Amino acid sequence: MIRSKIAGIGYYVPEKVVTNYDLMKVMDTSDEWIQERTGIVERRYAEKHKENTSILGVKAAEIAIERAGITNKEVDFIIFATLSPDYYFPGSGVLLQRQMGMQGIGALDIRNQCSGFIYALSIGDQFVKTGMYKNVLVVGAEMHSCGLDFTTRGRGVTVIFGDGAGAVVLQPSEDENRGILSTHLHADGDHAERLSYINPGSHGGVFLGKEKFGYPDQEFGGAFFTPHMYETEDIYPFMDGQHVFKFAVTKFPEVIHEALEANGYKASDIDMLIPHQANLRISQFVQQRLKLPDEKVWNNIQRYGNTTAASIPIALCEAWKAGKIKENDLVCLAAFGSGFTWGAALIRW
Ligand code: UT7
Repeated sequence: MIRSKIAGIGYYVPEKVVTNYDLMKVMDTSDEWIQERTGIVERRYAEKHKENTSILGVKAAEIAIERAGITNKEVDFIIFATLSPDYYFPGSGVLLQRQMGMQGIGALDIRNQCSGFIYALSIGDQFVKTGMYKNVLVVGAEMHSCGLDFTTRGRGVTVIFGDGAGAVVLQPSEDENRGILSTHLHADGDHAERLSYINPGSHGGVFLGKEKFGYPDQEFGGAFFTPHMYETEDIYPFMDGQHVFKFAVTKFPEVIHEALEANGYKASDIDMLIPHQANLRISQFVQQRLKLPDEKVWNNIQRYGNTTAASIPIALCEAWKAGKIKENDLVCLAAFGSGFTWGAALIRW
């Protein structure tokens, strides 16, 4: 059987460092609260008017493509995961493609938030395994900083998120025992609004029990954006943090065990766990449940915050660059987030 392998990996984080103390200047929060609840010390914000989500993605993709030993022209499919796209439509995939001179090949956009990279990786894996494509570029990129509420009202969400991008190139593996062993994807839409950014959208308040929400007084049609949304400040992300936390600490270990069992492994076989960087407390909980020592779990949320679809490829690339992932190591990627969606990938490096 053909397996796909990660042939090249790269990441990019913007230069601008925003510390907890910087956020304290604009909202009622504290370094102590943020560190104690999330582990975050600082995050990066992209440069306004110069950078956007696809540009961050391009910077990570260029490195991944170079490390894969190919040129842009050899990429034959793009998968771009983000919840903070440049435009409502078209997706950031085509914008990355245009900047990288790869016009003509397919570009797919993935909207699975914190699990976006795992979903994107899984799709890329299927394309390579079936022999349809030989060089699939998978990108996870986010520019959260332009969509957050920087007043005290938004502090429960805003302090957590940061900007960044990561990318991998998938190619067929020459060794059938190495590469992506399996991927496992899940979702439960019952919790859709518990972590959401509902506008702009066609929802019209239907699931929220507000029948006329968002629709102007006209005979036909509605509007994705209405003055009502601005008035009620329904233009920012919402998170029921405790509800998300509760599910995250259950679903992370569950899906990791599912991936291990599918391949005949147990937790102690993992050489490196790369959890989505949602909250250091969640990662520590998962680590304890799996009884993994510190050196087998990579955490960088302290420096970058939660970069959603970008967090796994950034962390994976950092761990690899630091020499913590070696040939033949068993690497487990796992994510949980908005949707709810969750998933895992097991890789023999
Ligand atoms: O990657 C996507 C998936 N997301 C997650 O996995 C996030 C999961 N959830 C969490 O990580 C945590 O729930 C948070 C870190 C978001 C919040 O921590 P928490 O311990 O659940 O706090 P809370 O929301 O229950 O708020 C506790 C208190 C509240 O004050 P009162 O009502 O007790 O007076 C909040 O108003 O902390 C207050 N608070 C803050 N105080 C200072 C909320 N945000 C802040 C803040 N600074 N930034």
